Amino acid sequence: MNTLNKITDVKNKKIFIRVDFNVPIKEGKITDDTRIKKAIPTIEFLCSRGAKLILASHLGRPKGERKPELSLKPCAERLSELMKKEVKFSEELYGEGVKKIIEGMKEGDILLLENTRFAKGEEKDDEELAKKWRELADIYVNEAFSASHRKHVSVHALPKLFSEKYAGFLLEEEIKNISKLLKEPERPFLAILGGAKVKDKIGVIKALIEKCDKILIGGGMAFTFWKAKGKKIGNSILDETFIEEVKKLPEDRIILPIDVKYGDSKDAEEFEEGKEVPDEKAGFDIGTKTINIFKEEIFKGKTIFWNGPMGVFENEVFAKGTYEIARVLAEVSEKGAFTVCGGGETVTAIKKLNLEEKISFVSTGGGASLEFIEKGTLPGIEALE
Ligand code: 3PG
Repeated sequence: MNTLNKITDVKNKKIFIRVDFNVPIKEGKITDDTRIKKAIPTIEFLCSRGAKLILASHLGRPKGERKPELSLKPCAERLSELMKKEVKFSEELYGEGVKKIIEGMKEGDILLLENTRFAKGEEKDDEELAKKWRELADIYVNEAFSASHRKHVSVHALPKLFSEKYAGFLLEEEIKNISKLLKEPERPFLAILGGAKVKDKIGVIKALIEKCDKILIGGGMAFTFWKAKGKKIGNSILDETFIEEVKKLPEDRIILPIDVKYGDSKDAEEFEEGKEVPDEKAGFDIGTKTINIFKEEIFKGKTIFWNGPMGVFENEVFAKGTYEIARVLAEVSEKGAFTVCGGGETVTAIKKLNLEEKISFVSTGGGASLEFIEKGTLPGIEALE
C-alpha cells in the first residue's frame, strides 16, 4: 500500500479524496467536528503542493435517497472555516455539472461533493457509479479509515479503478496503531469490551481471545454471558441467539462482572447493586466490586484496547463504571502503557472527561477498528493494495 509521503507529482493533478465527514449534526450545526479536523493534515499537504482536491464522504444512512438533513453542506462550510479558504460544494455527485466545476478549479482549490450515499449505487459497490467517479480525477486517496470496513463504491470499487492511489495520513496512523496491538504487543495485553450487543463484538472477542491475556467484559452484553452461566438477569438486555456461542469461549481468559448496578429503567434516578438482577429490574452498569477488579487488571496491563461503554453512561446514575475505566486508562497511559480506544460511545465518554490527549491512540473508527482487529484488513485497505 502506498502512503502519501511517496506521492511525487501532485501539481495540477485532480485528486479524489474519500474522507469520513460522518459527523453529528443538530439543526444544521455540527456538534463535533473531530473527523473534519483529523482529515486536515492530508488536505493541507496536497493543497499546498498545488493539487485540485475533490472530497467525498457519506453522512448518515440515507439509503440512496436525497435527504436534506443529511446534506454535507455544513461540512463544506466548517472545512472552509478551518482551512481559511473557500471550499466549493457540488450538489451533483457526478456527470457534466461536476466536471464543469472541476474544470474551473485552480491549483490548491477544494471541492466537496454531496453525500455519497445519496447515489443509489454507493452501498451496492456498483461498478457503473465507480466509473463515473473515476472520470473526475487522476489520483485516489483514502482518508476514511472509519468507513473502510464498508464494501461501498467510494472506498472499494472506485480505488480499484485507479493505478495511482494512496493511504492518507490518518488512515496510515490508524493502521499503524491498531497493528501495533496485534503484532507482538507488550504483555500483559488486555481488551476491555462493552456496549449493548454481543452480535457486534463476538467476532472481535474470538479474534482477541487468541491474542490477549485477558478480556474484560462489561456493558449490556455481559448479561448474555451471565445468562449462559445461569445467573438471574431480570429484564436486562439479552442476545438470546448468542447464549450457546458464548458458552464455548474459554473461561480462563474472560473476566465477567461479579456485580452490577440495576434499576427500574435506564433513566432511573437511583440504583441498587447486587450479584444478580431481580425480576422486574434491569442492569445498567458494572458494580463497585467489578470496577475494582477491572481497575486492578488494568493497572497490570502494558497493552490495552477498549471498545464499548461499561453501562448507560448518558445517565449519571449509571456512568461510574465507564468513567472509572476511562480515568484509569488515562492513568496507565501516562505511566507508559500503550492504550488504544475506539467506538463512538467510548470516545464520547473519554472526551466528556477531557482525557483524549492522555490515551495513546483514540481511533476514529468504531466498527472499522473492530473489523480490522478481527480480520487484519478491511475492504477499503485491500482496494489500495
Ligand atoms: C461511522 O460513523 O462509524 C462510520 O462513518 C461508518 O458509518 P456507517 O456505520 O453508517 O457505515
